[in-house]
Amino acid sequence: MSADPYAYTFPHSDLLSVGGLNPIDLQMIFTRAEEHFARNQGEDKKLGTLKGLTQINLFFEASTRTLASFELAGKRLGADVVNFSAGNASIKKGESLADTALTLAAMKPDLLVVRHGSAGAARFFAQTTGIATVNAGDGAHEHPTQALLDSFTLIQRWGDVAGRRIAIVGDILHSRVARSNIALLNLMHAEVRVCGPATLLPGDIDQWGVSVFHDLDQALEGCDAVMTLRIQRERMSNGLLASEREYGALYGLNHQRLEHAKPDCLIMHPGPMNRNVEISSALADDPDISLILDQVESGVAVRMAILELLAQKAPSMTWQDRVNYREGDA
Ligand code: CP
Repeated sequence: MSADPYAYTFPHSDLLSVGGLNPIDLQMIFTRAEEHFARNQGEDKKLGTLKGLTQINLFFEASTRTLASFELAGKRLGADVVNFSAGNASIKKGESLADTALTLAAMKPDLLVVRHGSAGAARFFAQTTGIATVNAGDGAHEHPTQALLDSFTLIQRWGDVAGRRIAIVGDILHSRVARSNIALLNLMHAEVRVCGPATLLPGDIDQWGVSVFHDLDQALEGCDAVMTLRIQRERMSNGLLASEREYGALYGLNHQRLEHAKPDCLIMHPGPMNRNVEISSALADDPDISLILDQVESGVAVRMAILELLAQKAPSMTWQDRVNYREGDA
């Protein structure tokens, strides 16, 4: 127990999902992110809070935004950062994921950032290695730092997301971004709507604490913000969508459709986007409405905050400490 009964230490040894974060954790993350965001505007962006620590970014799936921002975040905090991509890994030669995890752990990194096409992969790395791990997207499961940076971007505009009406449009079924955002926005008392064709909504969507729409114009009524998701072209071939053209006509966002929302409605997209499919180019590039590049900028600051908070435990805990800690948590 802490000597100061009012002190609060970030209690998480990993960030694998939004579930488990509480409002105080969020306040800690966003307060730190605000400081980093301000510093990132200046010439001297460097801090030494992770000096001496090693961060490995393990990306088994393609990424532009998440990988670059985790690399910048770690470097700006003074960590030694190693990027490791599946294309060059021994997994191609038949090495198991467990052996990859144990091999990298033997090199004594302090932080792992894991992206993988399978749900649960980041948790597997955390449990196998005992090293502080951030989930940078695992299959269709979660992408917690994306949700945190999205909410941080909205909070910077509005001060709070509570009471705001936010629609998430597109392929909810396969979207880790949607899953993490719905959990986080509900935690922060926003009103969340989802909209998409029935084939791209989960069967248990009525259990997710959201209002469900199939008609985009209706979903947009009174919205303060709209998050549109990448249409995953690989889904076209398995009968989930009739055609890209039809999807664009029914669910594509543009200035005209946005007239159904509040006059000052903001739009977001996690990227990468298919211009003129899920969002018109004109809307994506409209500086008065689009937060797309603000989201990218927020991503570095939010990821700096996450790495710092997890690193508070990293140097002081042995592998066995961390395993005991995790088992005690469970
Ligand atoms: N939003 C997101 O995860 O983008 P990347 O796939 O480019 O990392």
